[in-house]
Amino acid sequence: MSKRTIVAIPGDGIGKIVLEEAIRVLDAAGFDAEYVHADIGWEFWRKEGNPLPQRTVDLLEEHKIALFGAITSKPKSEAAKELAPELADKGFIYYSPIVGLRQHFKLDICQRPCKTLKGNPLNFIRRGANGTIEEPAVDVVVFRQNTEGLYGGVEWTNPSKQVYDAFMTHPKFSKNFGWSPKDEVAISTRIFTRKYSERIIRTAFEYAKKFGYERVTLCEKPNVIRETSGMMLAICREMEKEYEGIRFNYTNIDAQMMWLTKNPETYGVIIAGNMFGDIVSDGFAGLIGGLGFACSANIGEKVAIFEPTHGSAPKYENMKPSIVNPIAMIMSACMMLDYIDETEIANNIRNAIAKVVEEGKIRAYDMMKLHGCQEVLNQGAASTKEMTDAVITAL
Ligand code: NAI
Ligand code: MG
Repeated sequence: MSKRTIVAIPGDGIGKIVLEEAIRVLDAAGFDAEYVHADIGWEFWRKEGNPLPQRTVDLLEEHKIALFGAITSKPKSEAAKELAPELADKGFIYYSPIVGLRQHFKLDICQRPCKTLKGNPLNFIRRGANGTIEEPAVDVVVFRQNTEGLYGGVEWTNPSKQVYDAFMTHPKFSKNFGWSPKDEVAISTRIFTRKYSERIIRTAFEYAKKFGYERVTLCEKPNVIRETSGMMLAICREMEKEYEGIRFNYTNIDAQMMWLTKNPETYGVIIAGNMFGDIVSDGFAGLIGGLGFACSANIGEKVAIFEPTHGSAPKYENMKPSIVNPIAMIMSACMMLDYIDETEIANNIRNAIAKVVEEGKIRAYDMMKLHGCQEVLNQGAASTKEMTDAVITAL
């Protein structure tokens, strides 16, 4: 088989550390690929006024598949202050480059699996009847619409007169917000399209069918957010008829956040819009080990980017040796392998991770529930490299 080319986009902070570790595991597992480095993140914002240089977009255009670490994002005004002096006041505005990539390549399908690994000390436990301690096995895959909704970027502070006047034609706007001075109004929109709502819902149902999940849940808020959540629900209702044997139901995001700690084992595939998907996937990730274990895929029609859900964790970036858990990034790499039909290698790596976690001899600081600092290495925690080495040995 011809050698694959994978774009490696480390980004900032611990993104750089964990991506390197994932590539070590891929190599050890026999995945034959060439990695081309691509720039992204804070350094390029400061030096070039653009955290997502065009050359990175071009590399993705060419090679289609990428592994991404994490980036550092800061609010607009703080970002402006950190620009190189020669770029200051030249009209550069900071936008999150990962959100930019998702939108540029229309990576509309975000897939976030949350599956309990046996023996993980971070697994959620609850008290059962008669005071018994139960450890429910969570096996949830969240499908989050990744490009629209509240993260679509259609927003204003002190909107132009034209925009403001258009809003004023809506009776709820004029009645509830018309009293405020225009320059004190901030608006962030939540726009959904039928095309991309259908795509995320279809992908989720197909996934449930392919992998034998009996339950598909739409997690939105259709009773209050009638138009957008309402459209998602209507599409689900149409589509569920095509999937015999799959039970469909819907929950409200607020109630879902409660239910997921009461009966997480009853959920399978979850569908949500952008923001609620972000929230509910973090919720479920918390039940299976948190950020050190949460992996994800951003998949579009042509390009796909695989990344851990954690950020750049700047306070850990300069620790030598590094102590962060590489598993989320390694499992994201497994999702990439699944995507390109290298399922055997992906399963080998996942089995190796499962073995290391179950044996429990090598544990990163988060798995030992220690406060993250260099001292953890003297308290028995494995370094990032040792954690990776253990996975490689188990392979
Ligand atoms: P974060 O995910 O970077 O870190 C939060 C905390 O989670 C850390 O302090 C650490 O205790 C823990 N953690 C994260 N990754 C871990 C790992 N691999 N192993 C063990 N523990 C881990 O989120 P935070 O602190 O809110 O944001 C830091 C920066 O990252 C910000 O600039 C933020 O904008 C950015 N960010 C970027 C994301 C991305 O690139 N997709 C996603 C989330 C945040
Ligand atoms: Mg998030």
